[in-house]
Amino acid sequence: MKLTTPQPVRHPRPTTKASALAYLIFDRPDLARAEQFLNDFGLRTVSRDSEQLFLRGTSAAPFCYVVRRAAKARFVGLGLRVNDMIDLRMLSRLPDASDVEPSNWPGGGHRVRLTDPSGFRVDAICGQIPAAALPHRAPLPFNSVDAAVRINGTQRLPAEPPEVIRLGHVVLELADFQKTCAWYTEHFGFVPSDVQVLPDGSPAVAFMRLDLGSTPADHHTLALAQGFAPLYSHSAYEVVDADAVGMGQRVLRDKGWTHAWGIGRHILGSQVFDYWQDPWGDKHEHYCDGDLFTSAEPLGVHAVSREAMSQWGPAMPRSFTKPRFTPGSVAALVRNLRRSPDVTVEKLKMLARLFA
Ligand SMILES: [Fe+2]
Repeated sequence: MKLTTPQPVRHPRPTTKASALAYLIFDRPDLARAEQFLNDFGLRTVSRDSEQLFLRGTSAAPFCYVVRRAAKARFVGLGLRVNDMIDLRMLSRLPDASDVEPSNWPGGGHRVRLTDPSGFRVDAICGQIPAAALPHRAPLPFNSVDAAVRINGTQRLPAEPPEVIRLGHVVLELADFQKTCAWYTEHFGFVPSDVQVLPDGSPAVAFMRLDLGSTPADHHTLALAQGFAPLYSHSAYEVVDADAVGMGQRVLRDKGWTHAWGIGRHILGSQVFDYWQDPWGDKHEHYCDGDLFTSAEPLGVHAVSREAMSQWGPAMPRSFTKPRFTPGSVAALVRNLRRSPDVTVEKLKMLARLFA
């Protein structure tokens, strides 16, 4: 494949190396409705008052999802765990960074508030006190053709929301793709695992993992996609097995929520997935069985297409990637065509042919 545009690369000396995706922050006009969806999805409420809602999985992270009450629904940003106060002090020197400040969110700790080049808020956090992990259902024992493990026994799942174990990844669309990718690799040590490129070789999606050295990391913790404006694409939450993904679909359907895509198995990352829309149309993914890479694994480059999104399962519906055109998004499109080096009419045409 001919590559005419530079691909995202790992930075030789990043400012810090993030060790986890700690949380996501959303603004929502209706906290009760947000909580209803997220509880049906399998997240558990940590605390809620009239202004803020915190939710968690069963892992020891004190929370992984924050909803702030606001007039307008929007995705605000993400929190990344860093190692120590030295990391925080380094990050606090970046342009427009806050000072190191104590966090009054569950688990406490200290944080620095940053803004990425696309305008998303990024908190660097360290020193959170972990919560006690909650018990979760063990993966179902599977009678495979070569190894029967369940004799005179049955499979019976509870008909209830699947237990979310933890927040796995977030996917964002950007106008300033290259600059934003470079910011995450430079300041948080993200390592591109795989890049999907357009027919002209320019990157369309970068799947990036944490650099945990020889400790295996999720294939992607942050994925960035070329778009025409900064937008939330989806976030993904790990459940214990494929039956939990399936039961999640059953429960969310019974509760009347809107399905987006699934069940299938991805190619890049390999997860078994199912996507659901929250009350504001934002996609939330249940997944299990994702790939784990150490930092040694080299970058993969692949052609992007609708077919390259899954190995099996229903074809990705066009509604899944169709941009929601609002007066605001059209204005952003026009603005970014003029000012962003990554947004061109040619590229938008290619993206539209592939996805719209
Ligand atoms: Fe995903």
